[in-house]
Amino acid sequence: MRVVVSIGGSVLAPDLDPDRVAAYAGAIERIAADGCEVGVVVGGGGVARDYIETARDLGANEVELDQLGIGTTRLNARLLIAALDGRANLSPATGYDEAAAALRRGEVSVMGGVTPGQTTDAVAAAFAESVDADLLVYATSANGVYDADPNAEPDATQFGSVSPAELVDVVLPMSRDAGASAPVDLLAAKLIDRAGIRSIVLDGTDPNVVVDAVLRGDHTGTDVIPTDTDEPTYWTGASDA
Ligand code: UTP
Repeated sequence: MRVVVSIGGSVLAPDLDPDRVAAYAGAIERIAADGCEVGVVVGGGGVARDYIETARDLGANEVELDQLGIGTTRLNARLLIAALDGRANLSPATGYDEAAAALRRGEVSVMGGVTPGQTTDAVAAAFAESVDADLLVYATSANGVYDADPNAEPDATQFGSVSPAELVDVVLPMSRDAGASAPVDLLAAKLIDRAGIRSIVLDGTDPNVVVDAVLRGDHTGTDVIPTDTDEPTYWTGASDA
């Protein structure tokens, strides 16, 4: 199975803790050792926001702010690459062809942001589409897709599964609403819908959760299931061990 895992910066590096990064690298290695081809997209998290806010106060324009954000995603990606100890590409891929080439070489293919005007949510969807991934997993700080922002609305209800079109419908109003935090951004949802990418959105605080989701389809987040698709054959016969 070919899988792309998107790890939010706030999940991988809310602070600089080598144990957390090593635990994530261990999870990625277990997925690869099971025979999966693995692409990883790393976000910028709080560090990106700190840089962006500081530069905004200095009068930087939006493209400059995005470039700072991209730089921090690549810094976080380099942390994961360091922890993967030679199993990943040497430096974060800066484009989709480069990322795909690393997969072909049998490496864990790690990248951060690519171009201004989007987030790594969209990068992960485009990477997954470009390599015809069987599965795209968003390891975020929210456990799936809710009918409202669960941080703002305690009564928000989680969806067990949605279609890609429903994901777009859920995310669209959140993307208009300043301050509301969408589980994945609108561009990512549109790419998932356009390409029909089987996806999972889950709380990635514990990296073992990502391993169970990828190897067995077991998780408590939200499945995004394109219509008329079957379960990935990889999961057929997977043990519960
Ligand atoms: P993130 O993907 O980390 O954004 O990119 P985020 O929504 O804050 O995600 P979490 O908190 O890590 O889950 C950080 C910033 O980098 C820029 C954007 O400014 C984004 O807000 N960026 C990232 C780009 O401009 N282009 C990209 O391809 C990726």
